[in-house]
Amino acid sequence: MVIPETFFAERTSLLKASEIRELLKWVAEGGIISFGGGMPSPATFPRQQIIEAITEGISEHGDKLLQYGTTQGLNELRSELKNFMEWRGINVSNVDDIVVLSGSQQGLDMFGKVFIDEGDVVLMELPAYLAAINAFKLYDPEFVGLKMDDDGIIMDSLESVLKELKSKHKKVKFLYTVPTCQNPTGVTLSVERRKRLLELASEYDFLIIEDDPYSLILYEPIDVAPLKSMDGEGRVTYLSTFSKILSPGLRLGWVLADARLIKKFVLAKQGMDLCTSPLLQYIAYVALKRKVIQENLSKIRGLYKTKRDKMLEALETYFPEGCKWTTPIGGLFIFAWVPERVNTKELIQDCIKKYGIAYVPGQSFFVDESGTNTMRLNFSYPAMDEIEEGIKRLGQAIKERL
Ligand SMILES: Cc1ncc(COP(=O)(O)O)c(C=O)c1O
Repeated sequence: MVIPETFFAERTSLLKASEIRELLKWVAEGGIISFGGGMPSPATFPRQQIIEAITEGISEHGDKLLQYGTTQGLNELRSELKNFMEWRGINVSNVDDIVVLSGSQQGLDMFGKVFIDEGDVVLMELPAYLAAINAFKLYDPEFVGLKMDDDGIIMDSLESVLKELKSKHKKVKFLYTVPTCQNPTGVTLSVERRKRLLELASEYDFLIIEDDPYSLILYEPIDVAPLKSMDGEGRVTYLSTFSKILSPGLRLGWVLADARLIKKFVLAKQGMDLCTSPLLQYIAYVALKRKVIQENLSKIRGLYKTKRDKMLEALETYFPEGCKWTTPIGGLFIFAWVPERVNTKELIQDCIKKYGIAYVPGQSFFVDESGTNTMRLNFSYPAMDEIEEGIKRLGQAIKERL
């Protein structure tokens, strides 16, 4: 039988298919140059070390690693994570403030579960990470978008938003941000703005969720520290992942939060999966302990920097006048604006069918549904020659619409 709509919970109507996931299906079928998705290059996966860690884990600690684990995660891994974060300038007073996640995406769903009641105000970057929008949307918040420029969220604009919300007696629950090499734009919040953001969070009493998958994948030296390391009041919850520095297939991330929030997280996670795979956690533990990750970073940075430069050069050569794009100092994405009369959701159809290329139309990253003439371009996954060829074809497809 086909299950009638009336059987489903009403909130499922808030779910919609992610365009990125849909596009990944095309990539899987092959024959398309894809700037969609946000996949690392498989050349960066330390396969041999992963094989060794798994073999060692099963033969030496099989009883423990093939068993259920604690919801918080392996103690060995959490203490390595403490060192890792401290190396990044983040003070961790207690390993129990860390929970290992089955991908940082699980953390995003957990934020929705533990923070958002229907109608709560949640502040999001314009544009924001799509899978965070979708994870939060299920809990039906009121999203308010924050304007950005090349230095991240514009603080004067944030302050006006906060004043306006206050005048309407609306309380902000949290602000979600990817402050370093943002997904989807690649931009980085400046140091001055980081300081101001923390001041405003204190003044207007809201929490900050700092999602930080990319701050170790930098192509230029920068002097910005994680928001969490500057947080004197405990307003920032820090989320990160092994996906871009080790392998996304392991589905491993972590969250650092205050003890009270951690208690709620643990309860929420129990309902989701009881625990993250202990065996896979062991791989991450070994990779941190033996500095596999730390040493692999220079390879990742070198490879992606070359790809980023190739894409920037190709954009300069092949994109028509009236287009602009970001120049990210790290991360995996370039964000582009095409002339306003070109709708990138319509353009993508031609691109896939006629030109054999894919990107992510930008509109769905904007909680106010603006950005109809924008696109996100990933440069970590495609090969060098695909970057040149794909941007060339994309330039032609845009010109055809003008
Ligand atoms: C900003 C951001 N947050 C979270 C994630 C999800 O990462 P994970 O693979 O750890 O679930 C991604 C993945 O691309 C991301 O870009």
